Amino acid sequence: MSGRLQDKVALIFGAGSSGPGWGNGKATAVRFAREGARIVAVDINLEAAKETADIIAGEGGDALPVAADVTQADQVEAAVQGVLEAHGRIDVLHNNVGIGNFGGPVELPLEEWHKVMDVNLTSAFLTCKYVLPGMEAQGSGAIINISSIASLGVGMFPYSAYYASKAALNHLTRAVAIEYADKGIRANAILPGLIDTPMVRGSEDMVQHYGSMDELEKARHAASPTGRMGEAWDIAAAAVFLASDEAKYVNGVTLAVDGGLSVRMR
Ligand SMILES: NC(=O)c1ccc[n+]([C@@H]2O[C@H](COP(=O)([O-])OP(=O)(O)OC[C@H]3O[C@@H](n4cnc5c(N)ncnc54)[C@H](O)[C@@H]3O)[C@@H](O)[C@H]2O)c1
Repeated sequence: MSGRLQDKVALIFGAGSSGPGWGNGKATAVRFAREGARIVAVDINLEAAKETADIIAGEGGDALPVAADVTQADQVEAAVQGVLEAHGRIDVLHNNVGIGNFGGPVELPLEEWHKVMDVNLTSAFLTCKYVLPGMEAQGSGAIINISSIASLGVGMFPYSAYYASKAALNHLTRAVAIEYADKGIRANAILPGLIDTPMVRGSEDMVQHYGSMDELEKARHAASPTGRMGEAWDIAAAAVFLASDEAKYVNGVTLAVDGGLSVRMR
């Protein structure tokens, strides 16, 4: 452990992964713990949260797995209350949960639109609602929202709800950043690009879009300016910086971690 987050309490929503391997939330939880943070790993899937917590415990770190659905206010409130009871404070709130559904306004059922908005956007509103008062009372805190470069432009998928929800998440991040800047609280967003994670590999829509898993891999590597997709560890590394005191003057940014994809001219 190199201690960049020594003794900070980090509450991570979506700390499991949706399949085998390293997702962004799982890698971030493990990296935070390696930097000395005490982790509360929240996931709708308790087994996934436990898997992350077990990895951390196996490395000698401190992690508590908790089951909660980020779209349910009472569950988010209870999770936050549990952390305050266990640790007395929350230094880092990391909002990783996100989903995408294929379909434009015509094809996408209204319920699916609402679901994406609830999971990707209202979730951050809810976690902020219950975490901010404690951060304000202690006079410090760092919030990290996992957005996407899909918040900046429209990609190759018919992903209208995802694009809209992530763009709104960026602006919620800025609003919180400004409202709480003079209270010692920072809010920033990370915008992952093409990252090789279980979420992508597990999406039937995406595999179908590319034709096969092999084609998905090839196309996503080729689409990256670096020639390779990113890894969950790249997202985790950016999150460590934003969560740490090294980023004390970094507030309200939308940090693309995408190998340059979002600035490439075609
Ligand atoms: N992989 C990429 O290429 C890429 C690109 C851009 C953005 N992102 C963003 O990264 C984030 C996901 O990263 P990941 O790799 O950790 O994904 P993941 O799907 O592996 O992990 C997310 C975790 O969130 C949990 N979860 C889902 N719904 C939940 C809910 N309602 N309440 C609580 N937990 C819930 C899942 O069980 C899962 O364990 C998303 O916000 C996604 O939009 C990923």
